[in-house]
Amino acid sequence: MTTYDTLSPAPTLAGGLPLLGHAPWLALRPLDFVERLRDHAPVALFRIGTRSAYMVSSGELMKDLLITHQSKFEKGGPLFEQATKLLGNGLAASNGEFHLRQRRLSQPAFHHSRMGVYARAALDAAVAVSGSWRDGEVVDLGRALNDTTMDILARTLFSSLTAEAAAEIRRCLPALVAGVGRRAFIPVEFVHRLPLPVNRREAESLRRLYEVVDGIISDYRASDLDQDDLLSTLMLARDERTGAGMTTEQLHDEIRSMMVAGTETSATLLLWAFQVLAGRPDVERRVHAELDEVLGGRPVGYADLPSLAYLGRVVQELLRMYPTGWILTRRATSPVVLGGHRIPEGADVFFSPYALHRDPAVFADPGRFDPDRWLPERAAAVPRHAYLPFGAGVRKCIGESLAYAEITLILASLMGRWQMRSVTGRPPRPVAGSTLRPKESLMRVEERRR
Ligand code: HEM
Repeated sequence: MTTYDTLSPAPTLAGGLPLLGHAPWLALRPLDFVERLRDHAPVALFRIGTRSAYMVSSGELMKDLLITHQSKFEKGGPLFEQATKLLGNGLAASNGEFHLRQRRLSQPAFHHSRMGVYARAALDAAVAVSGSWRDGEVVDLGRALNDTTMDILARTLFSSLTAEAAAEIRRCLPALVAGVGRRAFIPVEFVHRLPLPVNRREAESLRRLYEVVDGIISDYRASDLDQDDLLSTLMLARDERTGAGMTTEQLHDEIRSMMVAGTETSATLLLWAFQVLAGRPDVERRVHAELDEVLGGRPVGYADLPSLAYLGRVVQELLRMYPTGWILTRRATSPVVLGGHRIPEGADVFFSPYALHRDPAVFADPGRFDPDRWLPERAAAVPRHAYLPFGAGVRKCIGESLAYAEITLILASLMGRWQMRSVTGRPPRPVAGSTLRPKESLMRVEERRR
């Protein structure tokens, strides 16, 4: 009889070094490495240092990991633990019953009835950044898009934000996002406590960000709470068993989670969009033709989204080729079987949307940017859990609809007026850090000639 103990262990990837294991490959050639693991086996064993880890790389097994057996896994793993020191116990980092409760309480803020209001914030931010550019100038587009998504998130969280508070959030938030990323890749506590200028600057920005958010929470507590935004929703939410609301510390943690999870992700995808389209005039021409046909020169609005079908497919394809969450981790909280192999309690289990989305067995010619692979008749052939830019199950991105609306509307708005051109003339090169971003951030903005 087959029991857990008689099951075979997952096949180990060759090439592990004494003491280091496969860590050098993960650090130096991360994108090749996750594809190598995928090609090795649907569940592959590898080592980071002396510690074993598993990579799960098939759509079917993603369902087992993220949905069927989700209660046997929690957020955890080496890339995660240090990073969460800055996140506190917010939605992106908490686990178990507490996470489920916070998720339930936060969900109404992402209801589709709210999207129109958030879309307004996105469009206002797009108009502001668009108005700041001059024809032919070279801009740091990565930075401009980061500022734009930070503004949008700040206005989504706090609808009555003052201009000074918005500017202060924009100044201090990058330190939080960068700090989470740095801790994921240098998971050694004392390094982040050394009295270095970078650590001092980070500490100052985090302190200031905390003060600004604290002031906003106090203002909300002192006034009418129902301001139709994310913070009011969180403050008005009551636990259905105890009737208790969230403490101020909990509100801080939830806000930090949203700020980190919801800004660089969208900004990076937008940067990919402009970098990729600069090298694909055929795709750019089709987007322009659709914008002209649907909008006829007027500004885009939230209600136009269903009519911008080609642009929607471009966004889907960008999320396939460049999923910002390119590698994600879980920790097994009890022994579990995946793909017929035993995974012991405490094991680190990785999955890579990047490797899944480039599996040639699922996506023909996976390195080709082809938005039409998302035409309904072709998309129907993609297995349900083989495409996971927003994850799946109880940890699925809570901001998915917001992200789609925000990204599509910003693209439509900026592409109506501007064409971005590569400064280097080279295809964009990916850098896999805490997100998957293009190496180049500078682009030339040119007024679109119709
Ligand atoms: C292109 C844009 C985005 C991408 C690709 C993205 C991707 C993801 C992914 C893959 C996860 C799941 C992580 C895991 O399973 O370990 C996630 C979780 C999350 N995302 Fe997003 N996200 C985006 C935008 C946003 C936005 C705009 C917000 C909020 C306003 C947001 C808030 C969150 C939160 C709070 C979580 C944690 C959810 C939980 O664990 O319950 N994200 N995101």
